[in-house]
Amino acid sequence: MKRCAAVAGAVKLGHGSAPHHGMPMTEPQHTIPLAFKPLPEPEMLARAQGFRAAMQTRRTVRDFADTPVPRAIIEEALLTAGSAPSGANQQPWTFACVSDPERKARIRAGAEEEERAFYAGRAGEEWLQALAPLGTDDRKPFLEIAPWLIVIFAQRWGLDAAGQRLKHYYVPESVGIATGLLIASLHQAGLVTLTHTPAPMNFLNEICGRPDNEKALILLVVGYPAEGARVPDIHRKPLDRIATFL
Ligand SMILES: Cc1cc2nc3c(=O)[nH]c(=O)nc-3n(C[C@H](O)[C@H](O)[C@H](O)COP(=O)(O)O)c2cc1C
Repeated sequence: MKRCAAVAGAVKLGHGSAPHHGMPMTEPQHTIPLAFKPLPEPEMLARAQGFRAAMQTRRTVRDFADTPVPRAIIEEALLTAGSAPSGANQQPWTFACVSDPERKARIRAGAEEEERAFYAGRAGEEWLQALAPLGTDDRKPFLEIAPWLIVIFAQRWGLDAAGQRLKHYYVPESVGIATGLLIASLHQAGLVTLTHTPAPMNFLNEICGRPDNEKALILLVVGYPAEGARVPDIHRKPLDRIATFL
């Protein structure tokens, strides 16, 4: 009961009287009851532990099988991503989902061109040294092999009903959170992903037919791992190095 009262108080503060995003907030026009079911603490802990165990098996994979993945699974994961919180609820993301082989070949060609320049020196010595343990290079065959490439675009600004430019707030933060949910959902569905970031990514606008107000942030490669796929032996920082309790 105590916990419920605290939650109710927080909701009232956040949406009623406190400034939001540095701007005065008006009351929302329409409200609906919050769908919230309190859980017993042991179940809360068990759920958190279960989710951690599931997420800790997620790894970035760079060796994909060409096995097809039904579009329905991708759509479910996208809807999860689309449920992410976003600055002023502007949902400033577009997920361009590419399965067409011809378009995937063009994406591979564009990415490898950028990556050749990157590994040939554009990255700089320090960056290349940081990447060395991962064994990555400028060859990206997975961009044609994997069944789905999801290009995640950030809408730097939007258009209002009259076609006027509409400022978007906290765009990279919002798109980053949505991408996290997308990766988690795809993992939960039994798929693997590679978060790929060839730089610059402007070539993706033309291939995906996206307008200038959108900027590609991440090229997410999605599918099944190739048989016998291996991943770098990396380690996670312990809790006391990623969190501080005050
Ligand atoms: C923003 C971002 C960009 C990344 N870019 C690349 C990339 O271009 N190529 C690549 O092979 N891996 C890329 N990665 C994957 C990371 O190397 C990988 O997440 C990291 O080594 C940890 O491994 P794990 O994902 O298996 O836990 C990227 C990851 C993130 C979050």
